Amino acid sequence: MELQIGNVSAIVLAKEYATPLYVYDKQIILQKIQELKEAFPHARICYAIKANSNLSILKLIAQQGLGADCSNRIEIELAEKAGFDLKKSIFTSVNPSDADLNKALSIGILMNLDDLSIFQRLKKLGLPKRISFRINPGFGAGKFSGIVCGGKDTKFGMSEERATEAYRLAKESGIEHFGIHMMTGSCVLDELYFEEITKAIQTIAENISKKIEIQFEYIDIGGGLGIPYEPFEKSLNLKNIAERIKRIYTSSALLMLEPGRFIVAESGTLLTTVTTIKDNFIGVDAGMTALIRPALYGAYHPILLANNPEADKTEKLTIVGPICESTDCFAKDRSLPKIKEGDILAIQITGAYGFAMASQFNGQPKPAEVLISNGFHSLIRKRETTEDLIKNESN
Ligand code: LLP
Repeated sequence: MELQIGNVSAIVLAKEYATPLYVYDKQIILQKIQELKEAFPHARICYAIKANSNLSILKLIAQQGLGADCSNRIEIELAEKAGFDLKKSIFTSVNPSDADLNKALSIGILMNLDDLSIFQRLKKLGLPKRISFRINPGFGAGKFSGIVCGGKDTKFGMSEERATEAYRLAKESGIEHFGIHMMTGSCVLDELYFEEITKAIQTIAENISKKIEIQFEYIDIGGGLGIPYEPFEKSLNLKNIAERIKRIYTSSALLMLEPGRFIVAESGTLLTTVTTIKDNFIGVDAGMTALIRPALYGAYHPILLANNPEADKTEKLTIVGPICESTDCFAKDRSLPKIKEGDILAIQITGAYGFAMASQFNGQPKPAEVLISNGFHSLIRKRETTEDLIKNESN
């Protein structure tokens, strides 16, 4: 039987919408949100918009009552358009512009600043009611070095000492409501790690509280919940993680989490058509411009022959796209069934940082996106055209 995505045939979808095509299964997104809510019933969960910012997906997530984690004014605008409750959301920027800060100030979102100097700049623009600072605890984790965002070699956050000064300055400026934040890495599958970062930020919060006599109302441990991409990887047990955190969490501050990948990654599949077969190279119509993770991080994504997913894997094949770069490769020497021209391949677990990181390089209009809901499919973003590539140019 052909691969089914939310009870719809992948082949039917590829025929109807053409390829390359991103397909998302709404049910999976809802299920992941439910898992998070059940594991962390008292926490505030803010979806990291950068993972997948299609407005239909954002609306779906906003409707479940989650807040948003926004990185800049554009993501704040997207959160507004999608109907997220911005009072329950957070703005965590890196190197923000004044325009970003002004936007965040104007809507009263919880501001989480990456450095003391940004607070000094912010003061000239206006004072928020609440402030949070991002801590770099000196360590981090993440599946690839490029997605570790804690530790002395990363650009993110501040040391405890510098943050203490930042909070002192904020208090002296008249701010009375405080949060504290840490985001040390993405795609972590080690359950103990989440306990470790919670312990670390809680200790730092206690130290700062004592030193400058402020109370924290929010403690945000960031995103980073991993999902298994590779056959040997296991899903996180969220309940175990929550239980461990509960055991060590003594603070009265509201615990916040900012998952991105965990909510959307597994809902997404990138469908692509085989155009060319040359020895063991299987050429497809999607490239690194549609999905850059394999080229950028060496990331593994499962690949299925959508027209016959159960077929025996008798071959060792290398799946490559149409881009003029040797990094344009989705899988090298992968065990796959025999493949022929015109077959449809399904590149799985591409709902997070897939379309969101797509580019138009090398004459590649971005793919279309489809959402499957209760067995029905609908186009949530149409395929770009040549016109989209040049529409902002003067000619
Ligand atoms: N909060 C902040 C401040 C972040 O920077 C991020 C992701 C998240 C939350 C969500 O993290 P998640 O739960 O998705 O791990 N492009 C990479 C991932 C980069 C993540 C950057 N920050 C990838 O394709 O794996």
